[in-house]
Amino acid sequence: MFIPQDVINQRLNKQIFRLISESADELSLETYIIGGYVRDIFLYRKSSDIDIVTVGSGIKLAKAVAKKLGKHVKVTVFKTYGTAQIKYKHYELEFVGARKESYKSDSRNPIVEDGTLEDDQNRRDFTINALALSLNGERYGQLIDPFDGLQDLQDLIIRTPLNPNITFSDDPLRMMRGIRFATQLGFDIYPETFDAIKNNRKRILIISKERIVDELNKIMLSPKPSIGFILLEKTGLLDIIFPELTALKGAETKDGVGHKDNFFHTLIVLDNISKSSDSLWLRWAALLHDIGKPSTKRWDPKLGWTFHNHDFIGQKMIPQIFRRLKLPLNEKMKYVQKIVSLHMRPMQLVEEEVTDSAIRRLLFEAGDDIDELMKLCEADITSKNPQKVSRFIRNFKIVRHKLKEIEEKDKVRNFEPPIDGNEIMQLFDIGQSRYVGVLKSAIKEAILDGVIPNDYDAAFQFLMEKAKKMGLEPTGSSFKKDV
Ligand code: CTP
Repeated sequence: MFIPQDVINQRLNKQIFRLISESADELSLETYIIGGYVRDIFLYRKSSDIDIVTVGSGIKLAKAVAKKLGKHVKVTVFKTYGTAQIKYKHYELEFVGARKESYKSDSRNPIVEDGTLEDDQNRRDFTINALALSLNGERYGQLIDPFDGLQDLQDLIIRTPLNPNITFSDDPLRMMRGIRFATQLGFDIYPETFDAIKNNRKRILIISKERIVDELNKIMLSPKPSIGFILLEKTGLLDIIFPELTALKGAETKDGVGHKDNFFHTLIVLDNISKSSDSLWLRWAALLHDIGKPSTKRWDPKLGWTFHNHDFIGQKMIPQIFRRLKLPLNEKMKYVQKIVSLHMRPMQLVEEEVTDSAIRRLLFEAGDDIDELMKLCEADITSKNPQKVSRFIRNFKIVRHKLKEIEEKDKVRNFEPPIDGNEIMQLFDIGQSRYVGVLKSAIKEAILDGVIPNDYDAAFQFLMEKAKKMGLEPTGSSFKKDV
């Protein structure tokens, strides 16, 4: 096996590694860099998280290293785990003693004993994550690769060092990690490893939702997230952690009329949006944009398959999905709901007529998220009919142009009606009555419909006329304006 020693030497030619090396030699501790940092050297990926494993006390070594780094450098000790952490410049160094671990079937928490480097490498999740680089004296920069991890890096393979049933049963989160690495790196999962994920999939239930969603988010942020979702589906994990997505699968045909498979359609939309946006939450909106389709699917002899109101039902489903997955129930969720609920609007707009008032309403409802909404709508064009695709693209160009034009003219994005409820109450001395709401929304509707422009004078005039029709008269003292 060819070992690119110059690549290793270049990365290890750093003061920080020399200092760890010196400390290790002084304490006679066999010491290695291990895990993700070593893997990333060969993938030419930058990384500042460095895991150091030593055959002995990681805490002792960390303290010695910190001393060499200077007075201001602190060591954070995690006694329960026997680990120590040093933050130095942009590095995060984690020191740990080499361990041997065994697990019980009902828990992720292992029984830990001191061990050799070999024991420590055996307990790692994947061959590409079990690579170690020696830091001691003459062996400085020597690669210890007992499971051919370097070969797997070259062959683009995710494989467990031991029998995968043991590795996954020990820590089922690794099933998600394997799929996540395959997605991030564009690697294949080794057949035996893949089969073991399938067989152990139910063990994922002992893993906390937070850790699962961490991996899901990393899959979502990968260049091509569909790789991960297809693997999750094929291994059966998706059905356990995200049944709403597997419910999108399948394409039914009736009287010769079929509909598209909404699972694969969703994944194409997700990949499309990932080319145009790095936003995690816009990607979540893409993943969930058609989530309301299975429960709204109907067969209509005249119309064929319909998914009436799936945008509305979809946005209603989102809080329960976010709650279950322990995703944030805050403005991020509201944003996803908003994009999902509006995702049909630009398309409906071009299919009917691009009127100024429809554009104004869309601008008002989408506010500052209008550009991202448009991005999603463009990503949603997955038709295989080239004529249809170019028609949609042409129409969306018209919508974008109109949006710009109307926004410049009317400024309705995020607008607040120029006269608020308080002013209406004072003008007519009506307190908190139902009239306030009626008049307020009449002003808003008149602006959105283009009946009046979005300014105070026009709104005031309109209010007076409307109020008069309702039998309301402005009172003297608070009557600010001559009508
Ligand atoms: N590891 C493991 N099993 C886990 C988590 C981690 O065996 N469930 C081991 C792997 O050897 C891994 C190392 O611990 O390389 C460090 O883990 P972590 O920092 O979580 O991941 P990285 O591999 O560094 O990758 P990333 O930073 O992309 O998560």
